[in-house]
Amino acid sequence: MTQTLTILGLESSCDDTAAAVVQQNGDSLPKVLSSIVFGQNELHSAYGGIVPEIAARAHAEKLDVCVREALDQSGLTLSDLDAIAVTAGPGLIGGVLSGVMCAKGISAATGLPLVGVNHLAGHALTPRLTDAIAYPYLMLLVSGGHCQYLIARGPEDFTRLGGTIDDAPGEAFDKTARLLGLPQPGGPSVQAEAEIGDPKRFRFPRPMLDRPDCNLSFSGLKTALMRMRDQVAAEKNGLTRQDRADLCAGFQAAVVDVLTEKTRRAIRLYLEENPATPTVAVAGGVAANTAIRSGLETVCSELGAAFTAPPLHLCTDNAAMIAYAGLERFKAGACDGMDLTARPRWPLDQTSPAILGSGKKGAKA
Ligand code: KG4
Ligand code: ZN
Repeated sequence: MTQTLTILGLESSCDDTAAAVVQQNGDSLPKVLSSIVFGQNELHSAYGGIVPEIAARAHAEKLDVCVREALDQSGLTLSDLDAIAVTAGPGLIGGVLSGVMCAKGISAATGLPLVGVNHLAGHALTPRLTDAIAYPYLMLLVSGGHCQYLIARGPEDFTRLGGTIDDAPGEAFDKTARLLGLPQPGGPSVQAEAEIGDPKRFRFPRPMLDRPDCNLSFSGLKTALMRMRDQVAAEKNGLTRQDRADLCAGFQAAVVDVLTEKTRRAIRLYLEENPATPTVAVAGGVAANTAIRSGLETVCSELGAAFTAPPLHLCTDNAAMIAYAGLERFKAGACDGMDLTARPRWPLDQTSPAILGSGKKGAKA
């Protein structure tokens, strides 16, 4: 008889409080029965970035409401669940702790098994939730806090091919927006300006393309942008709308070129060990960027690789990905006890050496 598993997932590692219910019958395509996300943009917008203490308090206040809404939307009750999955790291520690404590409380009260999930595994396994992509596949994780190339071989088996040594691309988009007086989050506003800008007017550097590996760097782009902005502003006594748009277009073109070229190298590295051309999957908030998506699609079709990107609401932080990653772990026999700890840092590939550098949102895993 095929087994149906129903998992409640909780996510609170950054600035989204989320709960979701995911169900899978045997090996069929999993179903997202509900997915609730409470963002915190308005709480942090006055500060120009996420304030960890404010985020943690908001998570603690909203998690139970989120769980109730996710259960209501799914039409289920706690007694219909098989386990509760929770992000146990990496992330802002106060927020991760809020989620882990909430999940422990529900587990203690109901007797439901508790499954700790690595937030990055949640993103990395999303293509299996949405498109049933088979292992192994090549993953590009690009978000506000992370940027890495991974070979996904199993729910807890990842090989990191490379990643950012400083800022994540989303962080670079956010800083660019801040420097140009555009609204946060910066990704969508910079993309919108770039669409009416000339990408050739300002020539941005393409960091680390002179190195053959899959490591990346984005912090220099922000410095370059600041210099160009100040130069134009000094010459013309301020920036016009077109100047801003051209700066955004030049910046975005540099990010697209770097990600496209490093993806080419990651596919080649993958092929050195795996005979079959991979599916390349992208996830994380920056995967919403249409110019980046189309650059990745082009390089994949040149190299004969399939390309897949989850729908936007499952690319950005959500709890359906945590419920699904928990489901995979639970199905494989994994379970955690009341000693589950919240981890600020938790690399997916424990064997790969730490990448130097630390961005604004903390140490890079
Ligand atoms: O994955 P996510 O929701 O949260 C984490 O950082 O884990 O990603 C949020 C990031 C933000 O930095 C945001 O500016 C960026 O994704 N982002 C974009 C776009 N939409 C969101 N970056 C570039 N282009 C976009 N269209
Ligand atoms: Zn994330």
